[in-house]
Amino acid sequence: MGLRARAVEDVVMFADVYAGRQVFVTGHTGFKGSWLTQWLLDLGADVTGYALAPPTQPNLFDAAGIGAVEAKRPRGAGRFTDLRGDVRERRSLGQALKTAAPEIIFHLAAQPLVRRSYAEPRLTYEANVMGTVNLLEEVRALAAFGRGPRAVVNVTSDKCYENLETGHAHVEGDPLGGFDPYSSSKGCSELVTAAYGQSFFSEPGTPRVATARAGNVLGGGDWGEDRILPDCARALHAGAVVDVRVPGAVRPWQHVLESLSGYLWLGANLWRDDAGAHAGAGAWNFGPGADSNVTVREVVELFIEAWGGGDWWPARGAAQQPHEAGLLLLDAGKAERALGWRATWSVADAVGAAARWYKAFYDGAEAPALLQRCRGDIAAYCEAAVRSGAAWAISEAST
Ligand SMILES: NC(=O)c1ccc[n+]([C@@H]2O[C@H](COP(=O)([O-])OP(=O)(O)OC[C@H]3O[C@@H](n4cnc5c(N)ncnc54)[C@H](O)[C@@H]3O)[C@@H](O)[C@H]2O)c1
Repeated sequence: MGLRARAVEDVVMFADVYAGRQVFVTGHTGFKGSWLTQWLLDLGADVTGYALAPPTQPNLFDAAGIGAVEAKRPRGAGRFTDLRGDVRERRSLGQALKTAAPEIIFHLAAQPLVRRSYAEPRLTYEANVMGTVNLLEEVRALAAFGRGPRAVVNVTSDKCYENLETGHAHVEGDPLGGFDPYSSSKGCSELVTAAYGQSFFSEPGTPRVATARAGNVLGGGDWGEDRILPDCARALHAGAVVDVRVPGAVRPWQHVLESLSGYLWLGANLWRDDAGAHAGAGAWNFGPGADSNVTVREVVELFIEAWGGGDWWPARGAAQQPHEAGLLLLDAGKAERALGWRATWSVADAVGAAARWYKAFYDGAEAPALLQRCRGDIAAYCEAAVRSGAAWAISEAST
């Protein structure tokens, strides 16, 4: 890890946009939000997080001590303000934004589970749709006083598309839809963002607003309901056989750092759009490479291999599950052409890193060690990005 950490210090990430920047992250106590917050702090951003409590027990935010004031902070690390609040409460969100005066916002707070959305559709729409409206309203109010952020990235999902399950990889202009309340709420969040973008944020000097659509992500520290890797880790740790629902379903798997590098690079490009042309505004897919569209079964087998042994079987009663899309593919060609972003890790790299993180957790590693493991994964990922020629990670040694 020491060697890796030194190597990554030579890498200019995201054109150095985040050092010293005021960044507001909703949903910072969640799985993606925790990784994003730590990465931003290590990039030197001052981060204000706004979210409800971590959604699961255990959770990455507490397990790794995200944002904790360390005795020996990395050089240049930013300051962290941890606020607890609900995006459905506009006043409280507005107050937090006013105080933080962010330059860049990442909106991740949401009810993110398909199955829960069948049980609680109203809550799902309130959090995912009205939460987006509340955020954009408050951004609009700040902008009216010349205090608006320069860039807003709204994180939606690959599930926002009308998915006909034909094997077509979705491009950004495809019709939006969503069979279940979660998917539809993310389609609605997209429509809300597009309407605000066109109606209020298209003139020079107004905030630049974009949406980011990524697929199922995996990585250390995810304990979300119905997610396959935590199920694997829990079962293997208990010496049990892993129960696998829909083993034949193909998903666009990617490590959480892949989607985050996309969000961060999108945010940096919105920020850098000095001519005020809003060139980065609109919708962006950040999907994995075609070789990462593999079945649940293959992912489980990769996890078991990286864990060091174990077994799986198809779960009984899988036929009675509520409808879940069987095939969902994303085309990230626009991000590659316009931003020079492309997926970096193979599915085996991604699953291997996650399996090692969970193994460390279940072997009893404490917060500082788990935080170092997160940093080690970020460093390894950045090195791979430099080697693959990603536009967002430039090695100073090669310039
Ligand atoms: N994890 C994935 O595979 C995946 C895939 C595509 C899109 N996404 C999207 O990424 C975002 C983050 O997902 P995640 O996997 O980290 O989920 P998560 O459940 O781990 O985290 C959700 C976060 O939102 C917060 N939150 C929920 N409701 C809130 C509310 N009403 N007010 C304030 N905060 C609230 C939670 O406290 C938590 O911080 C979500 O918008 C999700 O839809 C996730």
